[in-house]
This record gives sequence, structure tokens and C-alpha cells, in this order.
Amino acid sequence: MRKFILAANWKMNLTAAEAQDWLTQFNDLVTENSTHEFRLYAPSLFSAELAKSNTIHIGAQNAFPSDFGAFTGEVSIPQLISVGVKSLLIGHSERRSYFHESTEFIKEKVDACCQHAFPFILCCGEDFETREKDEYLSFIRNQLSTAIEQVEKEQLALMVIAYEPIWAIGTGQTATIDQILEVHGYIRSVLIDFFGELGVAVPILYGGSVNSSNAKSIFACPEVNGGLIGGASLNASVFLELASSL
Ligand code: PGA
Repeated sequence: MRKFILAANWKMNLTAAEAQDWLTQFNDLVTENSTHEFRLYAPSLFSAELAKSNTIHIGAQNAFPSDFGAFTGEVSIPQLISVGVKSLLIGHSERRSYFHESTEFIKEKVDACCQHAFPFILCCGEDFETREKDEYLSFIRNQLSTAIEQVEKEQLALMVIAYEPIWAIGTGQTATIDQILEVHGYIRSVLIDFFGELGVAVPILYGGSVNSSNAKSIFACPEVNGGLIGGASLNASVFLELASSL
């Protein structure tokens, strides 16, 4: 049976009480001994409390790539580790566009994770204009090759890639199966270029308007190893329903 990673990205949603309700519902509904890995990328504010339950891998949506210092408003990887957070989301398009995170800065986050042996999901994906111009594959290669330049083969087990075409995020406009097959196959070939046969084992998630009606066909694609789920993750039962199509 294939093992999938289903990662909930709450973004800036839910209050503390709603977050606890979500977790309670998740714990009630999750099948024990599920072969799949469930992750929850919650706002950092709730991480410490959520991580106490130990029933789901809690990840952070952001961290600053220095261990400590004068970076008002930021959190560091050691701080996240100290409250039980298990991984970091890096390079999400919302952080690239709203917070002007460059690919070089994203590389710094990747390197910081590697230094701390801290797992991460590295997001990539093109905007609509880049797809229209038929330049999306080289765009994705550039995003990836800059960010993973210094990742060593020994650190590869820390890394998961997520392909999230920007035009599909939160729009209800999912990429077609052919588009997903093409880009996931291409990302796999980039990983093999970088890491040889070890690149075959790096999970590649799809993200962008995944919901209960399209999940089955998306997860059936050979190079799709799971999903990064936004809107459909805000309700624990809807999120877990996606796993039933795996
Ligand atoms: P969406 O978000 O599922 O709401 O499209 C995905 C994401 O941004 O990670």
C-alpha cells in the first residue's frame, strides 16, 4: 500500500478554541494505525498547545533562519523545536508574494532546517502568466535548484516537496491530471538530477484546491505522494475524508 502525507495548512484561520475542537474531532475520527502520515501546519501561536496531544505531527507555517537575535515578531527553529514542533513549511506562494520572500531567503530557511536536522516541506509552483507563457517548467526548476543547492544526500530524508500552482490555490481551479502528471514527473527528474537515485524517495505533494471530489484522481497519479490542503483542512472531518480516497 502506498504511504501518503496529508498536510493541513490552516494559514491564518481558526481561534484557539476552534483549534482545540479541530484536534478533538481529528482524534475521534482518525483511524488508528493508519498507514498515512497526517501533519498540521497551524499558526505558531497554537503550536505548543497542539503539540501536547502527540496524536498528529504539528508543523509551523513560518520560521526565521537565525537561531536567535533582534528579529522582532519572528520565531526561530530552536524555539519551534523547544515546544514540540516537528517541521516547517517553506516557500509557500503566500509568503513569497505577501511577505516578499525571495528564493535566496527561502534557501536560507532550507539550510537552517538542514543545520538543525529539522524536516521541512518546500513549496514551488508557477503563477498563471508563467504557465500561459509556457515557461513553468524552467520556473519551477529555478525555484527548486536555488533552494536545494546545499542540501546534502544525508539530509534528504528531511525534505518533502509540494507542487502548488499559484492559480490553483484557494481558487477552486484544480490543476488537471495531465498538468499534475507532467509537473510531478518533471520535479522527480530534477530531484534525480540533483541527488541521483536517492531523489526517487523524496515525497512530492500536490496542493491547490484539493477537495473530496477531486482527491481520488489526484492521489492516483504515480508521482503524487500526498497533498498540502488549505481550505478543505479547516474542518477535521472534511480533511480526514480526503484520506479515505487514498
Ligand atoms: P487550498 O490551499 O487547498 O485552499 O487551495 C492550499 C495551500 O495553499 O497550501
